Amino acid sequence: MRFLFANWKLYLSERESIALARSLRRPPPSVRLIVFPSELVLSRSATILKRSRIAFGSQNIAPDHQKAATGEVSGNDLAKLGCRYVIIGHSERRALGETDTVVRSKLRAAVRSRLLPVLCVGETKRMRITAARRVVRTQLTRDLKGWNGETLFLTYEPVWAISKAGKGAVCPPHHAFSMAAYIREYTARLIPSTRTILLYGGNARGSNITEYVDGKAFHGALVGHASTKRSELKNMVQAIS
Ligand code: PGA
Repeated sequence: MRFLFANWKLYLSERESIALARSLRRPPPSVRLIVFPSELVLSRSATILKRSRIAFGSQNIAPDHQKAATGEVSGNDLAKLGCRYVIIGHSERRALGETDTVVRSKLRAAVRSRLLPVLCVGETKRMRITAARRVVRTQLTRDLKGWNGETLFLTYEPVWAISKAGKGAVCPPHHAFSMAAYIREYTARLIPSTRTILLYGGNARGSNITEYVDGKAFHGALVGHASTKRSELKNMVQAIS
């Protein structure tokens, strides 16, 4: 099984999100496509995606035990909507000040609401050469303290390769593979009884996705910008199926 997580971020307007959701077809059985529309259109998109039996998720979730949480998204409401997945610890949220403590609390909230977390870890450009492993190890150690879920989707995203509107650096596959091997080994020690599925995130698209998603190091990808285009989505699904 290969996974394609389409994180639409805030790229699409409501009208564009709905149109793209309507145009999607169920992928072949070897691929699971999961769509993450922006929070404001999640509910409307959910109705459409449910009809075509395409899974969907949320780009955010409120930390555990917080009812007084202005502007956050309730895990229980997401679950009621039919949402199955939630992205947690994305570098774009960490850059806004989301700490490992908050990430940990959001992971707990996801497990409580029976959502499958898609945890993101990765190093920034400054840390790439000297400290990539240390950064990722620290994130994993802090984020997964007290973790008690059964299944974890774990995305390695080299932050320096995440695109800004489709433009950005490309991560050499050998770097991604070496990080994947390290993450796999470390999480096997840290959370041995968890089923961990590793994904790649960072400027993936139809023309390069199979350079990362090889079924050994990575079983899927978390894709931002390219996933907002119907033709690219189709190409990516085809490429990894
Ligand atoms: P991108 O985003 O595909 O636009 O580079 C990837 C990510 O956010 O992980």
